[in-house]
Amino acid sequence: MSSPGEGRRAAWLPVRDHRFWVVQALVAVVFLLHELADGGLGTRPFAVVPHLAFEALFLFPLLYAALNFGLRGSLVTAAWVTLLMSLDITFSLQGMGRINLWAHYVELATLDIVAVAVGWGVAAERLARARAEVAETRYRQLYETARAPILLLDAEGVVCDANPAATAIFNGNLTGRHGRSLLPGGFPLGEQARRVLSLPDGRDYRLGLVSLPPGTGAASTQAIFEDVTEEHRDRRLATHYAALVVQAEEDQRRRLARELHDEPLQLFLHLARHLESLAETPGIPASAADRLARAHRQAFDAGLRLRGLARELRPPTLDHLGLVAALSGLLADVDEEEADLHADLQVTGEAVRLAGDIELGTFRIIQEAVRNSLRHAEARRLQVTVGFGADELRLTVADDGRGFTPDEFDDLTATHLGLLGMRERARLLDGDLEVRSAPGAGTVVDARVPLRTPQDVANGGANLVAS
Ligand SMILES: Nc1ncnc2c1ncn2[C@@H]1O[C@H](COP(=O)(O)OP(=O)(O)OP(=O)(O)O)[C@@H](O)[C@H]1O
Ligand SMILES: [Mg+2]
Repeated sequence: MSSPGEGRRAAWLPVRDHRFWVVQALVAVVFLLHELADGGLGTRPFAVVPHLAFEALFLFPLLYAALNFGLRGSLVTAAWVTLLMSLDITFSLQGMGRINLWAHYVELATLDIVAVAVGWGVAAERLARARAEVAETRYRQLYETARAPILLLDAEGVVCDANPAATAIFNGNLTGRHGRSLLPGGFPLGEQARRVLSLPDGRDYRLGLVSLPPGTGAASTQAIFEDVTEEHRDRRLATHYAALVVQAEEDQRRRLARELHDEPLQLFLHLARHLESLAETPGIPASAADRLARAHRQAFDAGLRLRGLARELRPPTLDHLGLVAALSGLLADVDEEEADLHADLQVTGEAVRLAGDIELGTFRIIQEAVRNSLRHAEARRLQVTVGFGADELRLTVADDGRGFTPDEFDDLTATHLGLLGMRERARLLDGDLEVRSAPGAGTVVDARVPLRTPQDVANGGANLVAS
């Protein structure tokens, strides 16, 4: 049994190939003919044939060696020719003029260069072909053994080939069938890229489409189905869990707001009224009336703060009058409390009431973005825009404050929860949220959410976190 090393040595030079030795013998024959022509063997039988024609005869064995045995074969053959011709030149040196001598060298060099160049080209081409074959074999192995179903499709979307995993899942011979006939809904494969599809084996797959380079036969596209069943289930569970957490938080806020409003707020207002009437009691000493009046103001202020807190926890206007009214109230409070900041609300499109979860979720997003601007931005202007589109609600909160680097807070292990919460809220509403900011350049929070009205919900839309 030969080791790989031996195999490689045997292939270095084709010494076992009889054609190689025939070529070397042919070189010797051409050399003899050349000697005859030159009169080196005492006679000149071919005196009428030009000398160059005999030299050119060397091209036959040289080119044959180059084409059949590659660079090494051509090098060895060229070396053999050079050796014989060098002997010839050495022995006939006396009778040769300088010019003749150089002509011999040039002819010899030309022969060698041609042979080596062709041999080089052949070797390079063989190497490229061998590499392509290795790559093809590896691809084929991967294709055959891949657990992911793979289809090869032609330009019309018809299956030209399917790997065993695909054949097993789609049950039978797929070649010649149109890709769209295999998918749920019969949609063209090209439109399903990156979508998650349920295949006949009951699992979820994400479809990836790869364009194949020309020259790979009839197939122009490779469709790979990546099994994302577990990932999908985990994501669904995470979303469900996040929705439950948000729901619980909202319930808690609502309960707290009601408790604050019904108990301590009423007590403070009652106390304030009582202190006010005591301060106005006739005949009471002036200093006591003064203190009672101060206590009345403090009790009244505390009541107002409690009302503000209850409103922040759950603005009653949101339920009664909707998003735009609740945002107007929020920004009016900001304007009142922040003397150095100008807050403005702009509404574009036709403002309509939205599904409960959308009004609540988007209000919370804007509330947190506004709160961040107040706490961190040191801004002078705050612009909130709500755009009602045909099927999308667009929200932006822009400040001209000191800005920050959002990537630094794009981390689930972070202790800052505001930005994460905003993203999660947008995601729960099937939307997305982007924070654009840089140090010194202000901040823009930009969210898009699919628009759903209460009618849509009544007609069967989802309402996960409405409360
Ligand atoms: N509008 C803004 N201008 C400047 N910096 C901001 C702005 N919004 C957020 N940041 C920066 O991003 C950080 C993260 O914000 P995030 O809302 O996640 O957390 P937080 O406001 O610090 O705390 P909380 O969890 O109470 O919201 C902030 O600490 C702040 O440094
Ligand atoms: Mg925050």
